[in-house]
Amino acid sequence: MRTQVAIIGAGPAGLFLGHLLHRVGIDVVILERRTRAYVEGRVRAGVLERGTVALMRRLGLDERMTREGLVHAGTKLAYDGDIFRIDLADLTGGASVMVYGQQEVMRDLFEAAAMRELPIVFEAEDVVIEGIESDGPTVHYRTDGVAHRVDCTFIAGCDGFHGVSRAAIPPDRLATFERVYPFGWLGILADVPPVDHELIYANHAHGFALASMRSARRSRYYIQCGLDERIEDWPDDRFWDELALRLGPEAAAALVRGPSFEKSIAPLRSFVTEPMRYGQLFLAGDAAHIVPPTGAKGMNLAVSDVIILAEALMSYFAEGDRSGIDHYSERALARVWKAERFSWWFTGLTHRFPEMDAFARKMQLAELAYMRGSRAAQTVLAENYVGLPLS
Ligand code: FAD
Ligand code: DHB
Repeated sequence: MRTQVAIIGAGPAGLFLGHLLHRVGIDVVILERRTRAYVEGRVRAGVLERGTVALMRRLGLDERMTREGLVHAGTKLAYDGDIFRIDLADLTGGASVMVYGQQEVMRDLFEAAAMRELPIVFEAEDVVIEGIESDGPTVHYRTDGVAHRVDCTFIAGCDGFHGVSRAAIPPDRLATFERVYPFGWLGILADVPPVDHELIYANHAHGFALASMRSARRSRYYIQCGLDERIEDWPDDRFWDELALRLGPEAAAALVRGPSFEKSIAPLRSFVTEPMRYGQLFLAGDAAHIVPPTGAKGMNLAVSDVIILAEALMSYFAEGDRSGIDHYSERALARVWKAERFSWWFTGLTHRFPEMDAFARKMQLAELAYMRGSRAAQTVLAENYVGLPLS
């Protein structure tokens, strides 16, 4: 098979890129290792930045999101038994975020892909990338034991942190920057009304907690936990008690408990690889970088990468203009590093670190108290939270 852009991975990065290119007539094929049901079933991100919402609209994929998504014009911070609101809309000149789960986004993207004949090969096994230093790279894969080959002009590595794309770049041509955090997030989903109509990020002496949601009837809650802890150690009652304590008395009074139907632990990591291009291969999304989830930047960063990449590929294929592809890495990384900084900072402000002494804890509380009373400090959080501009 011959195509212009072979996309590896049908997560948010790969699917948004596929849609953006396909609609202007650029030939693509998306190779995904898993089944559609598996990719759609993964419980992950929950908050869309304004740029991600705008892209859903631009692609004509916003019908269900507009109907079912929850517009949030504010978010809350709790600490030391107190709670205050960040008025995102007021602080950013009217911007907001949208609570609409990654699973819903994936479903909309897959449904539209089928309708618009965007080609996706599911269960593509043993994907191997070759010739990225030449003008004619190839991708090899198998389906049902049968070998296939794709000849292409470019490869987009959208295959997440554990994919094959980043590994196809010679290690001596990559620099990596990493911070692994000494804790994880234990998350649950439960069909109970959310404790508040907005999200609550809580700093408690026991550790971080987050009250989020998927709808007016489905809550998503997280608490910081140790990396050695097991799901079996956290029966629902223990989880609800700890969550109520960490959210503080005001929120806890409104907490509705119920059986969880999903419970998992995710580790936290900051990671960036530079550059995001090598020869004819571009990296986008988690294949190139990871953020800790505090602040909900992961999926949104995958989206901003592919908006930049799609623009670059469009000017190359339409006009032969190479400047976009030559500056893709630099342009994407400029935004990536700012989101990395925000996610790292917000994690540091809200989590309990094992080495934290009484002074470090006082510094967290002082910063939260400062933010409570400072419009300037709140604006810094708000403009990062709703999403920074592309450049
Ligand atoms: P992915 O979503 O990882 O997609 C990559 C795709 O490539 C996958 O479908 C994978 O199956 C496929 N693939 C991998 N290897 C190959 C291969 N060799 N060949 C073919 N296909 C391959 N972000 C938030 O903002 N908030 C959250 O609460 C949050 N929770 C998360 C929880 C977990 C457990 C994880 C792992 C991530 C979470 N994230 C969260 C991050 C967010 O989900 C990711 O940043 C986002 O999915 C990145 O999209 P992506 O397309 O780059 O990568
Ligand atoms: C969710 C996850 C986040 O990391 C976050 O900052 C906000 C919400 C969520 O899964 O709902």
